[in-house]
Amino acid sequence: MTAYAHITGWGKAIPERVLTNRDLQRIVDTNDEWIVARTGIRERHIAADYQTTASLAVDASLKALEVASLKPAAVELIIVSTSSPEHLFPATACLVQDRIGAKSAGAFDLLAACSGFIYALNMATQAIRSGSVQNALVIGSETLSRLVNWTDRNTCILFGDGAGAFVLQASETPAGVLSAIMRSDGSGGELLAIPAGGSRYPTSLETINDGLHYIKMNGREVFRFATRVMAQATQEVVEKANLTMKDIQLIVPHQANLRIIETAMRNLEFPMDNCIINLDRYGNTSTASIPIATCEAIQDGRLKPGDRIVFVGFGAGLTWGAAVVEWSGPFPGLHKFRPARYRLYFRFRSFLRRVWRHIEAIIWGRHNPSI
Ligand code: UT7
Repeated sequence: MTAYAHITGWGKAIPERVLTNRDLQRIVDTNDEWIVARTGIRERHIAADYQTTASLAVDASLKALEVASLKPAAVELIIVSTSSPEHLFPATACLVQDRIGAKSAGAFDLLAACSGFIYALNMATQAIRSGSVQNALVIGSETLSRLVNWTDRNTCILFGDGAGAFVLQASETPAGVLSAIMRSDGSGGELLAIPAGGSRYPTSLETINDGLHYIKMNGREVFRFATRVMAQATQEVVEKANLTMKDIQLIVPHQANLRIIETAMRNLEFPMDNCIINLDRYGNTSTASIPIATCEAIQDGRLKPGDRIVFVGFGAGLTWGAAVVEWSGPFPGLHKFRPARYRLYFRFRSFLRRVWRHIEAIIWGRHNPSI
């Protein structure tokens, strides 16, 4: 029996603090007119000190689980797509797993930059279609404000923080993720990168002095690449689903630059009115931009069950990808469940596990002094 991966839950988490273009004018040599004309961005949200990639991911996930009426304990797979993980390891997905009490879930991070959410959606879909899992939580979460150089006007005007999450569940009804493509071209890796902090250039006084822990970007080249692949990937993924562009009601593109999106829609002869744009208010939230924009489309009544939509994105790597989804919404007849109410319980559970591990270490340490 073929299983289809339906998107049955969604949620977003946006930090409250807003940084406008005029605020940026006071930090770097830029101005509101330039930023709006060249990017379409007017403001972005910046994480507060207490917010992290995992905490935003948890907030978005609990909302998504509530929409899907799925208990965290029943989640089988968690994929966090991020370019701003909390650590090199452990994976941010494991922090999320612990904080939402998803005790039956495997959890890992996926790094495909701004295309990451599409990659993660496809990986979760394949896990469901193969019968390996019955459901998955797919999250895009970023705190790139912590990785930009606030003196580099080429990059600091672009990025914002936020998270979005989808719950995917298996169903025999044909719908959900109909097709997906993932592409990469590592020869363009240096066009958008954080050079140091990994094993190639471990953190040293030199890497810090050279500013190699910040985002470096060749904006013009990334722009050229993006305008080329966005329309191409959309056409390819629609064909793969045995559909034509006439069958598509909505496109949710990666929110990087309005000019890139307009060029892609022009090439596709697809009306801008049917394309979700929110980068004016959020900037580029990288891998979180597609799920955040989708949540807003649902909120605004622009996405209804039965609609066919395309997610399409590009990013560092270089990577790009697209997916066609037939929107379904939550499975009917489920009992309402509010996972956010259990936050304290999840913390307590995590605390107890730590205490128990400590006790075990003492017991085992006594009996096995060699360990
Ligand atoms: O998720 C993927 C992430 N990356 C992207 O999506 C980036 C894609 N690229 C872009 O969005 C655009 O290339 C940028 C918005 C980054 C830059 O726009 P552009 O139209 O490609 O500008 P440019 O780099 O060609 O620069 C044009 C001029 C330059 O001045 P000169 O050399 O012509 O005198 C820049 O120094 O604009 C100047 N400039 C700025 N001026 C005011 C560059 N950044 C700024 C700024 N404010 N923030």
